[in-house]
Amino acid sequence: MWPLQSPHPPGPAAVTANHTADLLALGRQFYLPVYRPREIILARGQGAWVWDGDGREYVDFSAGIAVCGLGHGDPDLLAALTEQAGKLWHTSNVFYSEPPLRLAEELVAASRFASRVFLCNSGAEANEAAIKLVRKRAAAQGRAPERRVIVSFRGSFHGRTLAAVTATAQPKYQEGYEPLPGGFRYVDFNDATQLEAAMAGGDVAAVLVEPVQGEGGVMPAAPGFLRTVRALCDRHDALLVLDEIQCGMGRTGTLFAHWQDEVAPDIVTLAKALGGGFPIGALLAGDKVAEAMQYGAHGTTFGGNPLAAAVARVALRKLASPEIAANVARQSQALREGLAAIDGELSVFSGVRGRGLMLGAVLRPEYAGRAGQALDHAAASGLLLLQAGPDVLRFVPALNIGDADIADGLARLREALRAFVAG
Ligand SMILES: Cc1ncc(COP(=O)(O)O)c(C=O)c1O
Repeated sequence: MWPLQSPHPPGPAAVTANHTADLLALGRQFYLPVYRPREIILARGQGAWVWDGDGREYVDFSAGIAVCGLGHGDPDLLAALTEQAGKLWHTSNVFYSEPPLRLAEELVAASRFASRVFLCNSGAEANEAAIKLVRKRAAAQGRAPERRVIVSFRGSFHGRTLAAVTATAQPKYQEGYEPLPGGFRYVDFNDATQLEAAMAGGDVAAVLVEPVQGEGGVMPAAPGFLRTVRALCDRHDALLVLDEIQCGMGRTGTLFAHWQDEVAPDIVTLAKALGGGFPIGALLAGDKVAEAMQYGAHGTTFGGNPLAAAVARVALRKLASPEIAANVARQSQALREGLAAIDGELSVFSGVRGRGLMLGAVLRPEYAGRAGQALDHAAASGLLLLQAGPDVLRFVPALNIGDADIADGLARLREALRAFVAG
């Protein structure tokens, strides 16, 4: 269905207030406390809207951390899932089934560079596979282990498995997990001079980079930076690995973010919006590198599960459409204008950065470190919002969000930020 309409009224609440309190208590008692979720129970979603168990409505500018690219309850995703659920749920990878085979073919065709695909279940796993592929290729080239270094950038985020978190050049995610795997080196994002120095010894096997850093504050690669990275990789026979887990799948206005940087990668990792909310990840590899992974080199029980793949095929087709690209451009402009208008009234932002519908509004120095409080006010005003670090409000709504929903979300944000600056 296109475009999405705000689906008022919300329908009956799924749970009662007491029920909400009970469920929150379960979370406090039984979850490993690695998260601190907002104290609401989300019960239902439609388009760019969600409702909690007490029947309160929210405009969703978070989309499950840039996952629900087609919003909630997309009828085509639902049809793909239910149709496949009636046929075959799981085979493991010792047998073929049609949805992942088709998905692999379609990802290769869409990618403009890849010749092979490895399907997995999450972003961290896709990056883990990329790291292993890089190492395997370097080994096949006869490089000694200490000459298989992977360079990544400060402020990056690549996931929470031990290797992915080691590639994640932010100490707060690594602390306490030492000893970390060796062979990683960090440089400042967008600093070509530092990168050149880091690669000068000829021991670098790959550079891993997000075209737009997400968790690190919604920071795009500077114009021309990825081309410089590509040139350095070519000079040193290193692979260019692009983590498009957050910025890919249409979010920045093109199906792949790096198309805007005009570079050809060796490996791209995807997850998040690829499944529209159903867990799936993918590694896409070009010809030159794919052959490094041979029989037995890597594996996963659930990766390329028929249910996930059936959904992802539809998500890929819809997110690659010109309508999505046009809507991302339109709503990005509307969001930027709305944020500028809010700032005109309240003087809260020192700038807005990002691409397409991956935008970050940076809080002015007097509000530094208070993004979390702004999010509390947003939720109280019926808006689900994310932060990207302590100083940045992150906007990653559904890519098919409509004009009215953007306007409604901005009105809620204005109300929330009025309370934020007053308090
Ligand atoms: C750029 C990037 N890479 C990797 C990941 C890890 O993905 P997952 O949480 O699915 O393991 C994320 C998650 O936020 C991400 O934003």
